[in-house]
This record gives sequence, C-alpha cells and structure tokens, in this order.
Amino acid sequence: MKYVKLGNSDLHVSRICLGCMGFGDASIGQHSWTIDEEHTREIIHRSLELGVNFFDTAIAYQLGTSEQFVGRALRNMARREDVVVATKFLPRTEEEIQKGINGRQHVLNSIDSSLQHLGMDYVDLYIYHIWDYKTPAEEILDGMNEAVRTGKTRYIGIANAYAYQVAKMNALAEKNGWAKFISVQNHYNLIMREEEREMQLLCREDNIAQTPYSALASGKLAKRPGETSKRQAEDSFMHFKYDATAEQDNLIVKRIVELADHYGVEMTQISLAWLLTKVESPIVGATKLHHIEGAVKSLDLHLTTNDIRYLEELYIPHHLSGVMAVNKPVMNEEPVWVKASKNK
Ligand SMILES: NC(=O)c1ccc[n+]([C@@H]2O[C@H](COP(=O)([O-])OP(=O)(O)OC[C@H]3O[C@@H](n4cnc5c(N)ncnc54)[C@H](OP(=O)(O)O)[C@@H]3O)[C@@H](O)[C@H]2O)c1
Repeated sequence: MKYVKLGNSDLHVSRICLGCMGFGDASIGQHSWTIDEEHTREIIHRSLELGVNFFDTAIAYQLGTSEQFVGRALRNMARREDVVVATKFLPRTEEEIQKGINGRQHVLNSIDSSLQHLGMDYVDLYIYHIWDYKTPAEEILDGMNEAVRTGKTRYIGIANAYAYQVAKMNALAEKNGWAKFISVQNHYNLIMREEEREMQLLCREDNIAQTPYSALASGKLAKRPGETSKRQAEDSFMHFKYDATAEQDNLIVKRIVELADHYGVEMTQISLAWLLTKVESPIVGATKLHHIEGAVKSLDLHLTTNDIRYLEELYIPHHLSGVMAVNKPVMNEEPVWVKASKNK
C-alpha cells in the first residue's frame, strides 16, 4: 500500500479509500443493492489486510446503517488510531427549518448522530455532503468549526461543491479563525473530468486534497461491456448519472478495455491508475472482495504518457451529472448567504 498526507492535515491515508455507500440495510434507504453486515465485514477485513486505512461513509447511506456496519467492523478489527474515518452530513430538512434549528445546531446534531451510529468518540474527517442553499454558509462553517474545537472531528472537508464555494468558505474560515476544508470529494473519473476546469487548480494552489467519488463511474469503468450485477440492474441514480452520455463515453471505455488487454490487467487498474496520476486518494466502492483487491493493484501499474494521452483524448466537456445536476439554487432568489451578510 502507498500512503499520502491529506492536504493541510496530519492525516496519512492509503491512496485507495474504501467507499462505504454500498454497505447497509438494503430494506431501508436509497439503494436496494447494498450488501449486508456479514459481507461488509469481509470486505473491510480484506481492505485492512491490504493496508487500506481510509474509509468513507455518510449519515445518508441507508439511513445510518452504513455508519453502523462500518463502525462495528472497524471497532472489532482495527485500533481506532490506525484508521481514518470520514463521514458526512446532509442539508437541513424542511422540518428543521420550520422548528428554527439553525445551520450550526444542525451540524452539531448530525455529528452526534453519526458518532452514535459509528460507536466512536470522534471522526477524522467530517464532510459537508451536499451544498445547502437554504442555510447561511457561516452557520454551517461555525458548526463544523465547533465540531473540530470540541474534538468530535479532527478535520473538515466538502463534497459536491463548485470551486468558488470552496474558495469562499475557506476565506470565511480564515477571516473568523476557523477550521478550513482540507479535502474535496467531488465526482471525477475518466468520463467526468469537469474537476480539471477549476477545482484541480484551486486544490493545487491551496494544498487541498482531492478524494473523488465514483472513481470507476459506479462500475462502468471496471466492467466489460455486458457484465452485469444487482447494482447495475437496480441503481437508477447511477443510470441517471451516466446513461445520457453513454454513446461518447463508451468510446473511452473501449480504450480502457484495450489497455487492460495490452497490460494483462483488469479495467479497474487502468481506470484507477489514471486517476491516481491526478488526485491523492480516489474513493472506490466494492460489493465483492475482488473489487477492493483490484483497486489496490492499480497502485502497481504505471501508465506511460502515451497511455494517458490515449485515455484522455476523446473526452469532451460534460454537463454536470448526479448530485451536482439536481442540487441547484432557486435561480431568481438571492442566495441565502448573501441575504444573511446584508442583515448584519
Ligand atoms: N459525496 C457523494 O455525493 C458521493 C456520491 C457517490 C459516492 N460517494 C462515495 O464514493 C464511493 C464510491 O462511489 P460509487 O460506488 O458510485 O463508485 P465507484 O467506486 O465508481 O464504483 C463502485 C462499483 O464498481 C464496481 N466494481 C468495482 N470494482 C470492480 C471490479 N474489479 N470489477 C467489476 N466491477 C467492479 C462495483 O459494481 P457492482 O456492485 O455493480 O458489481 C462497485 O459497486 C461510495 O461508496 C461513497 O463512499 C460519494
């Protein structure tokens, strides 16, 4: 295993992060294809054996049961100080807004619930999962800073964000003497490269780590055409993310298959070896043992400059998809954080 320091932090993480969205009770929550606790434990056990120390979950995953499975497994199988646990909180609900629970309180309530699910005293990285257009940014950041100050998380990160949002939040944190985001978890892979437009530059300049999700395009960059699974059949959000651009993207997938055959490796290794030339630690989902084994092997593959050019040259800019496509401000309304700063 190879390890890397995560941006401006003291966290030393494996260059493969195990994504835990596929773990949890499949009878509740967003996904019908998640794996049960016994199979989750097998994958976590194998990941630890392979040197993976970085685990990404969220309160949103199967209504907290991913956090519960991950927490129980890690508490059983590892020393707390040897693993880096990241989890995330969601935007305020309409009900919370009606009850007058502000952004700060929302963050603090959320982290308490996550710690309870995990059975842990602290997480290493607490992530703002989805930009909350209805809550002033200052309230969110104040809550996240308080979580750091009280030792409930060591560091903070952000996901599904534009570069301008990260830059603005970190400037606000600096102004207030608060904790800043040390990592960004956005959608980035060989067929979704919009991060290269601005985020990559911001992250390099400010030493913010990139830990992209859907590193294998939810399986599309790891499976031979025609190869299927429960998830491929049932994950409608994945199809929403990738089906519209499939015709163009499949030309890139074909090149991944060609290079995999050339090197005698799995597609996963080609796709991740490419991403590892760009970012610190891609987040990879696994529903079978061989998935995490394949991901770790990608660290041994060196792609040449020609390989990289061959993989990249057919990409044409994409519209944002998935969370970034659906989470939008109400366009003709003044953003809530602008309103909040005018009221001061
Ligand atoms: N912040 C966010 O909004 C956000 C959003 C999405 C995900 N995430 C995080 O990122 C993690 C990964 O996301 P993801 O699951 O969408 O993407 P992914 O890592 O791109 O895809 C994982 C899927 O790829 C397939 N796969 C992996 N290795 C394989 C191999 N060797 N051969 C064949 N298939 C293989 C499996 O599909 P099958 O199960 O179909 O076999 C697996 O479920 C999540 O667990 C979560 O932690 C965060």
